[in-house]
Amino acid sequence: MQAFIINGPMRLAGTIRISGSKNAALPILAAALLTDEPITLHDVPPLRDITNMRALLTELGCESATQPDGSLTLTPSSTSNSHARYDIVRTMRASVCVLGPLLARRGEARVAMPGGCAIGTRPIDLHLQGLTALGAEISLEGGDVVARAQRLKGTTVFLGGPFGSTVLGTANVMSAATLAEGVTVIESAACEPEIVDLAAVLNAMGAHIRGAGTPRITIEGVSSLHGAEHRILPDRIQAGTYMLASAITAGDVRLDNCPLDSLLAVEDRFQAAGFTINRLDDTQPAGRCSITIHTGGERAGPIRLTTQPFPGYPTDLQAQMMALLTLARGNSVVTEKIFPERFLHVPELGRMGAQVFRQGPTVVISGVDRLVGAPVMASDLRASASLVLAGLAAEGKTTISRIYHLDRGYDRMDERLRALGASIQRVEEDDL
Ligand code: EPZ
Repeated sequence: MQAFIINGPMRLAGTIRISGSKNAALPILAAALLTDEPITLHDVPPLRDITNMRALLTELGCESATQPDGSLTLTPSSTSNSHARYDIVRTMRASVCVLGPLLARRGEARVAMPGGCAIGTRPIDLHLQGLTALGAEISLEGGDVVARAQRLKGTTVFLGGPFGSTVLGTANVMSAATLAEGVTVIESAACEPEIVDLAAVLNAMGAHIRGAGTPRITIEGVSSLHGAEHRILPDRIQAGTYMLASAITAGDVRLDNCPLDSLLAVEDRFQAAGFTINRLDDTQPAGRCSITIHTGGERAGPIRLTTQPFPGYPTDLQAQMMALLTLARGNSVVTEKIFPERFLHVPELGRMGAQVFRQGPTVVISGVDRLVGAPVMASDLRASASLVLAGLAAEGKTTISRIYHLDRGYDRMDERLRALGASIQRVEEDDL
């Protein structure tokens, strides 16, 4: 296994381009199962999760190849295997988003139940509730979800759960409904930008979807879908992570291809902390613009933060913001409303001198003047990013082990940070 060695503190400076969104690309890749014609995607991020999804799609009869221009072409070739095996699903929970497309196009699907993960139990009851409402017969056999349907029938589906809607559940039901007979209305749908991007691809494939991005999505079923070409929207979580990397080092980083229009809740919290986000060119679309973060060389002011479904503050940027708040001028309060257990970064930040006190889904962070580098361990994707940010600002050497968590969602983070002036090396853990 590999680790990062970071020597801090340092100021980041330079320019970074935000790549396509992992969380948009994964359900869009799965949507290729809805047609037998090629799909071409631009700006698919080169991540471990994408590699895993491509491997799964190959097993399910959909080959993929990177073209000379960097685009990814998906070519469905066979429908003989509709089983997403446990040893793939357990490494990447998002594999569950092949369920809806397989069921809609082939009339059957066998997908291993995704277990829990470091941030919570991760149930899929809402996914199954939605597909059952469309007429699927669903059973649990040996840890696999087995779903069958001659032809799905449109209806009204409610996808609200105890923590709000479900992003991948909305993706599964919306994708399946494109080939259902009649009209499907999804009530309490997820409003995330990644759902809007998926709907855009599906409509380019011939689907009739309206309302994506709102809590009510209407899908008029069609008999078949054709090929399409699409550019994946920029990754708002990657962008927020590098915005926070600039802020925690009081740096001067320019982000290009930044989806500022889907980061308004993050911008709001930056302003509450006393920082400003500067758009460099108003002629650029707000979805792909160039920005810098202005801290004035000051520490962040204390803030209150509660994670919410989109357009609220994203749970995927909670850990990274917490790293910044460990050095704020005062006490901040963070409440996690989506994954109440998503705090594995808290004890690791404590090892670096952070004063963080958890009480259930709420954490109080008492800002300190300095963090001190220490050996820490990555546990999940975004907690790992939080530890990298803290290491950039900490005094001395920080080693972060099990960095494979980070590679799932950030391509070459060490190289990209080094290009911004960070002292960061990737090593084998045995060499630590
Ligand atoms: C997506 O996961 C993202 N992953 C997650 O990002 C993100 O944290 C999450 O949405 C919330 O925004 C991808 O898009 C690949 P949910 P998803 O279903 O769809 C509960 C990252 O770091 N729930 O919206 O699996 C669930 O337990 C990852 O990139 C049910 O109760 O999340 C959670 O509390 C981590 N029943 C809440 O809803 C269900 O059937 C939101 O989950 C489904 C979910």
